[in-house]
Amino acid sequence: MERSVNFKEILAEKTAETEKILQKYLPREEGLTAELSAAINYSMRAPGKRLRPLMLLESYRMFGGQEQVAEPFAAALEMIHTHSLIHDDLPALDNDDYRRGKKATWAVYGEAMGVLSGDTLLNYAYEVALSAFDCKKNSQEVILALQLLACKTGIFGMLGGQSVDVAMEGRLMDEETLYFIYKKKTSALLEAALMLGPVLAGASSQKVRLMEQVGSYVGLAFQIRDDILDVTGTAKSIGKPVHSDEKNQKTTYVSLKGLPGAEREAARLSAEAYRLFDSLEEKNPFLGQLLMQLAERQK
Ligand code: IPE
Ligand code: IPE
Ligand code: MG
Ligand code: MG
Ligand code: MG
Repeated sequence: MERSVNFKEILAEKTAETEKILQKYLPREEGLTAELSAAINYSMRAPGKRLRPLMLLESYRMFGGQEQVAEPFAAALEMIHTHSLIHDDLPALDNDDYRRGKKATWAVYGEAMGVLSGDTLLNYAYEVALSAFDCKKNSQEVILALQLLACKTGIFGMLGGQSVDVAMEGRLMDEETLYFIYKKKTSALLEAALMLGPVLAGASSQKVRLMEQVGSYVGLAFQIRDDILDVTGTAKSIGKPVHSDEKNQKTTYVSLKGLPGAEREAARLSAEAYRLFDSLEEKNPFLGQLLMQLAERQK
C-alpha cells in the first residue's frame, strides 16, 4: 500500500477536529462536585492519541454517514477508554503513577477520587451517548449503537478482559489465554470504534461484522505493540512508565515470544486486518493507513 507523504498532517488535522468534539461534552467544574469534574477533565484533557473516536468518525464517513449523531458516540467511546486508563493505573491494578505524559489521576487527586472519577466517567459516557436521541428521535440505529457500546465495554468486553488480566498476574499463560485477554481488554473498544460508524450509518450486519473482525486484528496488533513499547520505549515517548508489565509479573506477547517474535506477529495481524478492510467496496484510504501504522507506532 502506498503511504501518502502528508498522512501525518492529515492525521494531526483530524485529531484536532476530534479533540474539539470531545471538549464540547466535558462536564462543567462547578458546585460541590467541582473536584469530581476536575479529576475527570484532568484525565480527558491529557494528550491521548484519540484513536477510538477518530476511527469511529472515519468509519461513519466511510459508510456514508453525514449527520452529527456520531459525535456523542465518539465522545462516549473516548470517555469509556479514559475511564479504563484511570482505573488501570490505580494501585489495586497496575499501580502506575504516570499517564498521557502527566501524573496519573489517582496520583494527583488521591485513590478514592481515582475510583470515583473513573466510575463517574463511565456512567457519564452513557449520558452523553444517550444524547444521540436528541439528533435522531426513536432511531433504531442509535438503539443498536447503544447496545453495541455497552456490550464491548462490559463483562464480555473490555472490563471482562481487564479482570482476567489482573487475575492472571504472576502466572504463566499460553498464547490462547493471552489472546483471550487481549481480544477483550484492548480489541473490544477498537472493534466498537470500527463498528459504531457503520451501525450508525445503517450498513448491513454483514459489513458491521467484517469491521468487527478488522478491529479484532487491529486490537491484537495494537496490544502487542503496547507490550513492545513497554520494553523498548521511554517514559517520555510513551507518556507512561516503562517496564510496568515486568513489575506486575504480567505474561505478555513479548515475554512469551521475544521481541522479534512480537514484531513479526504485530506485522502479520496488521496485514490481516488490512486485507479484510480492503475487501470492502466502501473505501476510506486515510482510515486504512491509520490502521496499518498502529502496529508500527512509537507511542
Ligand atoms: C492505551 O491505549 C491502553 C491500551 C489499550 C494499550 P492508547 O495507547 O490508545 O492510549 P491513549 O488514549 O493514547 O492515551
Ligand atoms: C490495558 O493494558 C488495556 C486497558 C483496557 C486499559 P495495559 O495495562 O498494558 O495498558 P497501559 O500500558 O497501562 O496503557
Ligand atoms: Mg493493565
Ligand atoms: Mg497498565
Ligand atoms: Mg501496557
